Amino acid sequence: MFRLVWPLLVIVLSGRAIYGQNSSYRIIGGSSVDIKQAPYQANILVDGSPCCSGAIISNGRILTAAGCVYGYPTSSVTVRVGSSSRESGGTLIKVCGINTHPQYSSSRYDNNLAILELCDPLTYSDSIKYINVTEKVPEDSSLAEVTGWGSTSWLGSWWDRIFGSLPDQLQGATVSFYNREQCANDISGWFWTWDYGVSDLTLCTYSYNRAACSYDIGAPLVKDKKLVGILSYGGCTTYPDVYANLIRFRSWLFERTAATEKATTKAASNATSTGTTSSKTTEKASSATTSATTPTTTSTTASPDPMIGK
Ligand SMILES: *[C@@H]1O[C@H](CO)[C@@H](O)[C@H](O)[C@H]1NC(C)=O
Ligand SMILES: *[C@@H]1O[C@H](CO)[C@@H](O)[C@H](O)[C@H]1NC(C)=O
Ligand SMILES: *[C@@H]1O[C@H](CO)[C@@H](O)[C@H](O)[C@H]1NC(C)=O
Repeated sequence: MFRLVWPLLVIVLSGRAIYGQNSSYRIIGGSSVDIKQAPYQANILVDGSPCCSGAIISNGRILTAAGCVYGYPTSSVTVRVGSSSRESGGTLIKVCGINTHPQYSSSRYDNNLAILELCDPLTYSDSIKYINVTEKVPEDSSLAEVTGWGSTSWLGSWWDRIFGSLPDQLQGATVSFYNREQCANDISGWFWTWDYGVSDLTLCTYSYNRAACSYDIGAPLVKDKKLVGILSYGGCTTYPDVYANLIRFRSWLFERTAATEKATTKAASNATSTGTTSSKTTEKASSATTSATTPTTTSTTASPDPMIGK
């Protein structure tokens, strides 16, 4: 029945669902979260405006949705970490590199990932910390936590211009995993004519009155203190939410991480010989990266990764 409804009507209805319930919530049915409860949470800004979420995966890298930053010049992207507030506080850091997943397509929900490389390394604190990527596939109906501020995607900015401002305080909600086949069926497009890429590369959640919305893309989904998903599509309770299934991207994540670390180390050794000002930052970044991320890197290389090579 819903499949036959004109898309805009669905959008308006889902908007009503949010605003009818509590006008200050974007993550629907959520509650305020202090950044210390989710210190991995990052706020991605494009041209100075907060527009998506991301997760700190090392002191030099933020994982977000490709759709959040795709098509923008690297210099227009910055990241705010260490703040519960959408607009202020914490630390603002410039992005020096964007690694979009090579198979990303804006018309699909799979492969919707990008790694942002920070120009300066993060200093960890009780409100700024990396999170490990999961090694387990979550079971259907098990629970996980999603956090976000809501953001200004085209829909968000359109909605906000008409109906008011976004929440300033970080919101979080507990959601439950939803059967993949059922999810693919629910999201297969009108008359099942379009493949949105809901597959084993994605995870779905669907909970009564609790969901992420379009404004939340890039939002981290966390189970047992591990990062399991990055929001690709927020169903706003009308449809399931779709996330990148991070366990299937572990090898891509580690390849990218290893490649960058190599490049940084090289640049650092060049800097030592030439001693130029521009390379000094890299040198500092590299040494800090090495000291702070060694535990993560060691643990991930040490544990066998079932996904590599599949
Ligand atoms: C709506 O959100 C406010 C905080 O912004 C909270 O005080 C209030 O209890 C919420 N109302 C409902 C119905 O959840
Ligand atoms: C990441 O995993 C390693 C190895 O299991 C563990 O020692 C470390 O505490 C974890 N870090 C976080 C932030 O959970
Ligand atoms: C470092 O220097 C070598 C040769 O001197 C060069 O081939 C390499 O590209 C440089 N690396 C970086 C990251 O600048």
